[in-house]
Amino acid sequence: LASSEVDISSLKEGESVTVKWRGKPVVVRNRTAKEIADAKAAPLSDLKDPVARNANLPDDAPATDANRAATGKENWFVMVNVCTHLGCIPLGQEGEYNGWFCPCHGSVYDTAGRIRKGPAPENMAIPVYSFMTDTKIKIG
Ligand code: FES
Repeated sequence: LASSEVDISSLKEGESVTVKWRGKPVVVRNRTAKEIADAKAAPLSDLKDPVARNANLPDDAPATDANRAATGKENWFVMVNVCTHLGCIPLGQEGEYNGWFCPCHGSVYDTAGRIRKGPAPENMAIPVYSFMTDTKIKIG
């Protein structure tokens, strides 16, 4: 399938759903206020990968939380859940930043999916997506 539609109407704060898109897991998460605050508080100078890796934005967009989250809906977070090291599937709400943790070689991602520690070179990718309605997202 070129695109996937995801119904997010039942996702409460702190809940995620994973869908397959082009053979890869894509996580859609309704982030908590703390997760958003933690991601916003990270100085850009602390980030290992300074660019957003968001297919909806220019290639050089900085990796701010706003550039990683859905535009105007900062609680909604959509990400290809594939480690940028060697392609394992990181575990959500794990690791030092309570974001994602890759069990293969220990890469640690924050609550905006940005690489913070470990061998992975890049932030996890944000796919092309859009809100069809307030409760339905189209990925791809
Ligand atoms: Fe994730 Fe190596 S594949 S740390």
